[in-house]
Amino acid sequence: MNSPTTPMRVAVIGGDGTGPEVVAEGLKILKAVAQREDFAYETVDFDFGGERYLKTGEVLPDGAIDELSTFDAIYLGAVGHPDVAPGILEKGLLLDLRFGLDQYINLRPVKLLPGVETPLAGKGPEDIDFVVVRENTEDLYCGVGGFLKKGTADEVASQTALYSRKGCERCIRWAFEYTQRRNNPEGKMLTLVAKTNVLTYGHDLWWRCFQEVAVDYPDVKADYNHVDACCMWMVKNPEYYDVIVTTNMFGDIITDLGGILQGGMGVAAGGNINPEPGGTSMFEPMGGSAPKYTGQGVINPIAAINAMAMLLEQAGELQAAACINAAIASVTGNKMQSQAAGKMGYSTSQVGDLVVAELDNA
Ligand code: IPM
Ligand code: MN
Repeated sequence: MNSPTTPMRVAVIGGDGTGPEVVAEGLKILKAVAQREDFAYETVDFDFGGERYLKTGEVLPDGAIDELSTFDAIYLGAVGHPDVAPGILEKGLLLDLRFGLDQYINLRPVKLLPGVETPLAGKGPEDIDFVVVRENTEDLYCGVGGFLKKGTADEVASQTALYSRKGCERCIRWAFEYTQRRNNPEGKMLTLVAKTNVLTYGHDLWWRCFQEVAVDYPDVKADYNHVDACCMWMVKNPEYYDVIVTTNMFGDIITDLGGILQGGMGVAAGGNINPEPGGTSMFEPMGGSAPKYTGQGVINPIAAINAMAMLLEQAGELQAAACINAAIASVTGNKMQSQAAGKMGYSTSQVGDLVVAELDNA
């Protein structure tokens, strides 16, 4: 819990495109909820992103990670700029922060809110409510690989997935503990999603680790799905899942599928969490920088507001997070016409105002 006197310190990286617009709405909600719950906070803005890179040629300046590590949390809008080649900002900002701050959990709830449309016929909020725990520092994301005879007809490229015992154990253990805390009244179940029938080294390590750690959590059912079958079940029977734990690359892919099941990128949010004492975690809407909507006030801020609720939950402000979640559900359920940019029936900042107004009824 943060007290009225010692402020929670939040680093704000609005980033590119519509990032700053949605972050402004999240900060509006933070201000309102801090007053209600009587905790103090301060924010510091960082101008990292495409514009700065185009001006200075650097993505994260020297010392940035050390400085960010002194904050309680980071609130990130979006990275991605039409004039910057793909990969530079993603790797130089997002992935370097995840790795540099050892944010080894990527937490991505898949929850269909009231009033939000899902592409799944016949499924509603009672069916789509699970959480993906994605390992966030290893796998194909390590950047290990190379070329042989690059540019010739005999070219060979390799890209290696790395998995450490420590890396998979800390993620699996955190996922079991999260499943216990989530305490699904229909039964606690953690599903390992991997591909043990083909990735017979790396995912064998995950499988053995999962079985060994499961012994310490006898109240949680330890379940397993191959990743291809998981994609099928997520569409056919999403109600099957409680919590999924998976590797970095598979987690990247299945959480885009999850994002669309819960109504799309205007709604989906995620947390990059370093759960160790003093660790700095980072929260972001999953939507990206949406250059074509920039500056028009039409982008949906719900995902960013969701990310703010996750930030507060991680910071120990459980009541504030619960309040925001209830307010969001009321706004999607009773006010907004659609979650698509430009079709909400309100502007970006009006949606933020609606959520603030609903805090009083939460
Ligand atoms: C995500 C994104 C990133 C990832 C990209 C932008 C590097 O797709 O957060 O899911 O692959 O992790
Ligand atoms: Mn992704």
